[in-house]
Amino acid sequence: MRDAYIIQSVRTPGCKQNKGLYNQTRPEELIAFIMKAAVERTKNLKPEHLDDVMLGCAFPEAEQGLNLGRIAPKMAGFPDKVSGATVNRFCASGLEAIALASIRVQMGWADVTIGAGVESMTFVPMGGHVPRPHPEFSRTNPDMYISMGITAENVASRYNVTREDQDKFAADSQAKATKARDNGLFTEIVPTPAVKYVKQADGTYKKEQFIVQHDDGIRATTAEGLAKLRPAFAAGGSVTAGNSSQTTDGAAATIIASKEKCAELGLEPIARLVSYSTIGCKSDEMGVGPRYAIPKVLEQAGLTIDDIDIYEINEAFASQALYSIRELGIEKYMDRINIHGGAIALGHPLGCTGAKLTATCIANLKAVNGKYGIVSMCIGGGMGAAAIFERL
Ligand SMILES: CC(C)(COP(=O)(O)OP(=O)(O)OC[C@H]1O[C@@H](n2cnc3c(N)ncnc32)[C@H](O)[C@@H]1OP(=O)(O)O)[C@@H](O)C(=O)NCCC(=O)NCCS
Repeated sequence: MRDAYIIQSVRTPGCKQNKGLYNQTRPEELIAFIMKAAVERTKNLKPEHLDDVMLGCAFPEAEQGLNLGRIAPKMAGFPDKVSGATVNRFCASGLEAIALASIRVQMGWADVTIGAGVESMTFVPMGGHVPRPHPEFSRTNPDMYISMGITAENVASRYNVTREDQDKFAADSQAKATKARDNGLFTEIVPTPAVKYVKQADGTYKKEQFIVQHDDGIRATTAEGLAKLRPAFAAGGSVTAGNSSQTTDGAAATIIASKEKCAELGLEPIARLVSYSTIGCKSDEMGVGPRYAIPKVLEQAGLTIDDIDIYEINEAFASQALYSIRELGIEKYMDRINIHGGAIALGHPLGCTGAKLTATCIANLKAVNGKYGIVSMCIGGGMGAAAIFERL
């Protein structure tokens, strides 16, 4: 197998669904922008060097349908020869895309690839516009179609993750994100153009562009403030809007090149994907996924929890993130986990998240001068995914 090196990894800011700054910006524009920006930021790389794009998207329909994996590279101005596919593993779609993009280089099927992710939960809400569960199967297997919030309630009640613990975890996520934003630590973010339609005096609308610099869901939060919120999914439950991930719009891209191409073009490797795992679990408690995916990927790589300098564990919900952290025995490493906050503060743009967390992981490995980082998340339907990255 050939060596496949990551030579760039960036993301847009994440912005809240409907109420946020991208609420009039189509997903194609977010992903085309971030892929183009990724190429432009990579010294000695030109669009004509690219072979293929793998694009993660959890609900690839409507504005983000029609194989956006092919449309976005064209919108980015890449040449016709740059092919593209859309990849769906729900919340791990972006990570899956990076794994597939790496494999293509490792196998010698491509020299330079992009693994990316995009989701506009504003334009395509979770579940899609026309959910059509199978009539008989869904009656006998309702858990396959269960609300993600209910799965978070199940994890909280089955494994005794209290409301207080969830709220503390959520408040910490917001505090870390606030600090990172205020100190300019989100070095993986590329300020991103957004559009809005402004009503003119004659009643027509004019499309105007503005630049988004920061994740717009970060908010001043206290555990006391969070304690006042009502359960969002189940009466008497403990999962609230404050201790759940935000529904978000965003895009992210990682560029991968073979060792040979790096040498030929003078591209600088920054990291590599060491190993990637996926594993199934019960669908009605899908949030436990990282607890199984992380040991699996560590074993594949011959590493242990102690070797990992940075963990990016997606905060789909505080209950499942905290449960996974406890079961993994990494509570002692809280200073290595989501060091700049997680999806509770920064948002979880479903199919983008794996690509977004990869960009964050690589940036954070650099910030702490670390070697190995893990990106992991739970996945609707009952799965976990985890990837180990090595900083070079
Ligand atoms: C939980 C959820 C339904 C909340 O959505 P929402 O109602 O649009 O969320 P909002 O941001 O408007 O917050 C709702 C309320 O909580 C308040 N709130 C949210 N976060 C808060 C915080 N950190 N501190 C204090 N109040 C907070 C808001 O101010 C708002 O109050 P209001 O109704 O008085 O205006 C939504 O975020 C969700 O579905 N998250 C999970 C997504 C998911 O399942 N992803 C896939 C995982 S596998």
